Amino acid sequence: MIPFHEPYTNGLEISYLKDAIKRRSFSGAGYFTLQCELLLKEFTGCPGEVLLTSSCTHALEMCALLLDLQPGDEIIMPSFTFVSSANAFVLRGAKIVFVDIRPDTMNIDEHLIEAAITDKTKAILVMHYGGVACEMDTIMNIAAKFDIKVIEDAAQCMDAWYKGKHLGSIGHFGTISFHATKNIQCGEGGALLINDRTFYERAEILREKGTNRKAFLRGDIDKYSWVDIGSSYLMSDLAAAFLLSQLKTTTIVTEKRIKLWNYYLKKLTEKKLDKFLQLPSASPDHLQHNGHIFYLHTTDLKQRIRLIKNLKEKKIQAYFHYVPLHSAVQGKKHSRFSGEDKFTTVKSNTLLRLPLFYNLTTKQIDFIVDAIYGASIDKKTINTF
Ligand SMILES: Cc1ncc(COP(=O)(O)O)c(C=O)c1O
Repeated sequence: MIPFHEPYTNGLEISYLKDAIKRRSFSGAGYFTLQCELLLKEFTGCPGEVLLTSSCTHALEMCALLLDLQPGDEIIMPSFTFVSSANAFVLRGAKIVFVDIRPDTMNIDEHLIEAAITDKTKAILVMHYGGVACEMDTIMNIAAKFDIKVIEDAAQCMDAWYKGKHLGSIGHFGTISFHATKNIQCGEGGALLINDRTFYERAEILREKGTNRKAFLRGDIDKYSWVDIGSSYLMSDLAAAFLLSQLKTTTIVTEKRIKLWNYYLKKLTEKKLDKFLQLPSASPDHLQHNGHIFYLHTTDLKQRIRLIKNLKEKKIQAYFHYVPLHSAVQGKKHSRFSGEDKFTTVKSNTLLRLPLFYNLTTKQIDFIVDAIYGASIDKKTINTF
C-alpha cells in the first residue's frame, strides 16, 4: 500500500521530550512554547508577535474574538476551503460571504472580492491552497481601501512565501497548522501570527481563558484574574517540545518535498499525461510553495471517481479535497455566495491529490505515474483546462 500521507518524524523528538520531562515543563506557555514562538517569529519575519495555539482552528477562533464580531457581520472567503476557516467566525454569529476561486491555483479570485464588500464586511479570509500564495498585494490594497482586516489561513503554509514574505505574515493575522497531516507537525497544534501588534495584549488574554495570567507569569502584575472573555487555546509544552524538534528541520523537509513535487510533474509530463489531465503549473518566481500538496485535475467527476478506483486497485491512496462549504448543510445556513460559482464546484469535483510525504520515494512516484498511465480514464486529447 502506498498511503496518501505519513506523518513526518526526524528522530530528534524523543530527546526534546526527555528534556521537557527533566524541566518539568508540561502545561501551556512554558519553556518550549516560548522557544517555538521565538523561532517562528524569526523564521516567518512576523512583524508583530507569534502565539502558539492548540490548533489552527483555535488560532482562527482567536481571530474572530479579536475582531469583536457582532451577529450579522460579514467575512469574505472562498468556499473551497477547510470547514474551520468559516466555522470559527460562524461561532461568533458572523455571516460568511463566499466568492469564487481562480481555476489555476484554487485560491480566492482577488478580482471578485471588491464586489462582495458591504457595509457589514469586517474581514477577508484568504486561504493559500497547498502553500501557493493568494495575490496578497491586490488583497491588502482592497482591505486598506475599505478599512477591513485580512486573515491569512496559512494552515498549509509552513515555509511557503510570497515575494519574499512568509505566508501568514502579510495580513493583519495569520494562522498556521501543525496537525499531523502538515509538513511540520506535533499531532495537534497551531500558531497565530499577530502581525498588527495592537492586538497582542488581548490575544494573550483570550488564549489564557480570559485572564491576564501571562502578564502575571512575566512578573508584570502580582496576581491574575478574569479580565475578558476567552478560552483555553494553549498548546501543551510537551507538544511544543516535540514541535520545536521538528521546526529545527523545516528547510530540510521543504527541500525534500519540493524535490518529490517536481519529480511528479516531470514524470507525468514525460508520459504526456498533461494531454488529458490538468497538471499544476510550475510556480511563478514570486511564489515559493512548500510542496504541501501535489494535485491534478481530471476532465470531470466521473473520470476522478474512476481514477481513484484504479489507483486503489493498485494499492495507492489518492483523495479529493474540500466539498465546497456553500453546498454543505451548515454552509447553506450561514452563508451566501457573491457572484457566480464559475469554478468552485466544477474544479473541486475534478481535483485529485496524490500521495506526498517526506519518506515517499521516487520509485514509488514512478509506480504511481505508471498506474495513472495505465488507468482506464478517458484518454481523448483535451485542451479545455
Ligand atoms: C485550510 C485549513 N485551515 C484550517 C485547518 C485546521 O487546522 P487544525 O487541524 O490545526 O485545526 C486546516 C487543516 O487541515 C486547513 O487545511
